Amino acid sequence: MPAVALGTWAWGDSGEVGDGYFGSQLTESGLRKVVEKAHANGFTLWDTAVVYGMGRSEAVLAQALKGYDRSEYQLSTKFTPQIAGDGEDPVADMLEQSLDRLGTDYVDLYWIHNPADVARWTPLLIPLLKSGKIRHVGVSNHNLEEIALADQILGEAGFRVEAVQNHYSLLYRSSERAGILDHCREHDVRFLSYMVLEQGALTGTYSPANPLPEGSSRAVAYNGILPQLQALTDRMGEIGEDRGGSAADVATAWAIAKGTTPIVGVTKAGYIDGLVRARGIDLAGEEIAELEALADAADVDTRGSWEHEMFKAPA
Ligand SMILES: NC(=O)c1ccc[n+]([C@@H]2O[C@H](COP(=O)([O-])OP(=O)(O)OC[C@H]3O[C@@H](n4cnc5c(N)ncnc54)[C@H](OP(=O)(O)O)[C@@H]3O)[C@@H](O)[C@H]2O)c1
Repeated sequence: MPAVALGTWAWGDSGEVGDGYFGSQLTESGLRKVVEKAHANGFTLWDTAVVYGMGRSEAVLAQALKGYDRSEYQLSTKFTPQIAGDGEDPVADMLEQSLDRLGTDYVDLYWIHNPADVARWTPLLIPLLKSGKIRHVGVSNHNLEEIALADQILGEAGFRVEAVQNHYSLLYRSSERAGILDHCREHDVRFLSYMVLEQGALTGTYSPANPLPEGSSRAVAYNGILPQLQALTDRMGEIGEDRGGSAADVATAWAIAKGTTPIVGVTKAGYIDGLVRARGIDLAGEEIAELEALADAADVDTRGSWEHEMFKAPA
């Protein structure tokens, strides 16, 4: 498992500025450069999902990976219950379509994308594990009880939940408050944190004066709260600068320091340099505490529209 996994949700967009969920400019040659630089630096785990552009992210990723031997990289993709077909085995069907788009006969890590119906979908992973079409399984956006249920179902067949993938950033620490990080540590389950950069809002690049791309969905989610994030991103920038890096590197280093494997959405080859720096940044305990206090003081809720509560504060 590399120190950081690479996210390709934005790769499902059309690549036109302002269009789609992220609205970043993406080209085939630019994404190929991302892959080349990532692999040259040991970042070889690629996270995608059918629903990222309804197959487009998987297809674009496969294109960008062309020429690399399958043993040189790892693929992580997901079964999304909300778009399950009505065949006899919707999980196997969705996986088959992903394999086709990804141009491979197995995925290294397969996720149930959300806990829409844990008892219904989890058992369908078992034959796929047995056949070797999926090497490892994880659950995403599941709370502690849902993780335990999935683990029990898999356990009856001799398998287990090997990884959890939840939203976890300085601004959104519900999995930590709910005890999921501790659970993962105690049970040797890998915790992959997604949106550690809050889709760009925690990189220091975007500010009230330079908001997220107009027309994109992330602009709707974040532009309104950018003023509240300024004190945090300024401090992250200062800490980053001390280490020859940026606020984004500090966000990623924080997630590593918390014992998680961040999945960072990479849209430019230059961002790989940031991951190399983040891998080497050792944040002091006081710095972590200061950043978390500033994040709390921002008083924002960045829970995604697709997420349910992991933690409810006592009344
Ligand atoms: N399981 C789930 O439900 C779920 C949900 C969300 C995400 N995910 C996974 O987690 C991945 C990461 O989340 P995300 O892509 O939504 O958001 P993210 O990683 O928080 O932010 C990605 C954005 O930050 C900017 N960025 C990246 N590296 C940077 C750097 N070094 N310096 C400055 N800016 C940088 C880019 O924006 P610009 O293009 O504007 O520069 C990029 O699009 C996804 O791609 C996906 O694989 C999973």
